[in-house]
Amino acid sequence: MRYSDELIEEVRSKNDILDVVGNYVHLQKRGNTYFGLCPFHNEKTASFSVTPSKQMYYCFGCQKGGNVFTFLQEYENYSFQEALTVLAEKAGITLPEADSSAAEKARDTLRKRMLEVNKEAARYYAYALRSPQGEPGYKYLTGRGLSDDTLMKFGLGFANISSDDLVKYLRSKGYEDQLLIDSGLASFDEKHGLHDKFWNRVMYPIQDANHRVIGFGGRVMGDAKPKYLNSQETLVFNKSRNLYGLNLARSSRTDYFILCEGYMDVIAMHQAGFNMAVASLGTAFTEGQATLIRRFVRRVYLAYDSDGAGVNATLKAISILKNMDMPCRIISMEPYKDADEFIRNLGHDEFQKRIDDAMDSFFFELKIMERDYDLKDPGSRSDFADALALKLCEFEDEIRRENYLISVADKYQIAADQLRRSVIAKAAKGIKTRYEEPKSGIQNTMTTEALILKKQRYLITWLSEEPEIYPIVKKYIEPSDFTDPLYAEVARQLYADMDAGRISPAAIITTFDDEQDQSRVAELFNTTLVLDADTEKGQALHDIIYMVKKNAVEVRSASDAMDAEAITRQMNDKKALEELRKTTINL
Ligand code: GTP
Ligand code: MN
Repeated sequence: MRYSDELIEEVRSKNDILDVVGNYVHLQKRGNTYFGLCPFHNEKTASFSVTPSKQMYYCFGCQKGGNVFTFLQEYENYSFQEALTVLAEKAGITLPEADSSAAEKARDTLRKRMLEVNKEAARYYAYALRSPQGEPGYKYLTGRGLSDDTLMKFGLGFANISSDDLVKYLRSKGYEDQLLIDSGLASFDEKHGLHDKFWNRVMYPIQDANHRVIGFGGRVMGDAKPKYLNSQETLVFNKSRNLYGLNLARSSRTDYFILCEGYMDVIAMHQAGFNMAVASLGTAFTEGQATLIRRFVRRVYLAYDSDGAGVNATLKAISILKNMDMPCRIISMEPYKDADEFIRNLGHDEFQKRIDDAMDSFFFELKIMERDYDLKDPGSRSDFADALALKLCEFEDEIRRENYLISVADKYQIAADQLRRSVIAKAAKGIKTRYEEPKSGIQNTMTTEALILKKQRYLITWLSEEPEIYPIVKKYIEPSDFTDPLYAEVARQLYADMDAGRISPAAIITTFDDEQDQSRVAELFNTTLVLDADTEKGQALHDIIYMVKKNAVEVRSASDAMDAEAITRQMNDKKALEELRKTTINL
């Protein structure tokens, strides 16, 4: 269901950013801006800002930002639709009855009922764990070192040996048989009728990020097979888009999560104080889960089992995380099988040491790769060097690649120059990367680009804070002069707004769907540049406009074909630029 832009804007403008964020973050006023500790990363000094005039928040530490919708999406893990609904309700705006079909409405109702019945079942299992019949379960769990506190925190429970008491209980609460089947709590067959899916197992309710029970895992208390029985996927249970423990880990206030393999690992870690631990749900780690993680943290530690299957799972997870630009490190569990065993044997402090010593994912991959070669054999050693060069091509960022190159060369005793030549040769063949041989020094070209982008951001921030400069800026700079496509789009909207005599950065944010884009837009409106005390403002504006324009002209001419038209345009550009250089701007 898509609501009109006007309605979305009405809901946004009727919810003050200070009120909304203020519910979650303690803010203090400093000038026109409010500051507090960032809820999205761990920090000791407040770098999270809320600016009422822009109706926007932005963290100078972790670069997350946005408007009221973004905030709730990030903080509560709401979808845009959910954030809109909550804020509309707060502002007393009735959203038009979604013109959804009868089928959609039925689905919504079913979802609600399923969440309800899951919650009721979780309560029942938890109650059963503490009843006399639940003693084997209670003994099993406490026997594995879990405290009563932990049992409560994770809502652990017990499914009795009798095979239909949950069905009876839920029926008595008025839940219809079909719902019990659809939600995976019960199954039906001719012989037994409707019966519980889980029996004689300890039960692990699986909760989504908002503490709603979406499914269950049930473990046998001995060595019987299958060890775990998990709910099948349902309308409310999507295994590839949820993580066990996320409902707790999201408030850990660390800037990383520890990803484990099993439920028990997560529980043991939390009990030992590592409340940033999460696990996938009995299936391999997915891109959907990586996306979910990225909503909360920027880095991941992998704490998978130390056996062969665990290593393979680790390599897969590394590759998924790499694709999402999320750095990760690998925690060694040796000599133990998994995090749970490690913690039980060595405890918190030793695990913390393992976190501190965790291996960079690239070196972990190399360590595994190395096993396929005999580094004492010259032929095999050369093949390995080749494979290294190829692997280094995976880094698109030059500085990063160079840094790894140097450290890899050192580690494997290969001459760095040689390795670099080999990387360039491979890249030239078009393998994987856009490596270009550095001309004037890698570092330099990088910072120039970063610098010019910062100037572009600053120009946008300045425009939004002092709209008086718009006529001047507009004279020289077109939206397309902003070289990042997202910047150009924001500039286009900002120009259109200013032409219409209004300005609303927070409304511009809403036109971007992706949360990362929204953060980048917020950054655009929150970039400060420290000017020398004696720099005159007009001079500063002139310099920035000139630099942005000059860069735009250069970028354009570099991508131009060399036809007559292009040459004329380039000459005109040059002339205009020269005039701009000589102009003075007075503010
Ligand atoms: P413990 O043996 O109790 O310590 O469990 P664990 O959490 O360490 O599990 P393990 O490392 O053996 O497996 C990791 C995860 O895979 C579990 O948490 C389950 O989600 C899933 N899993 C393990 N065994 C089975 C099984 O037999 N069937 C299914 N469907 N999933 C399983
Ligand atoms: Mn285990």
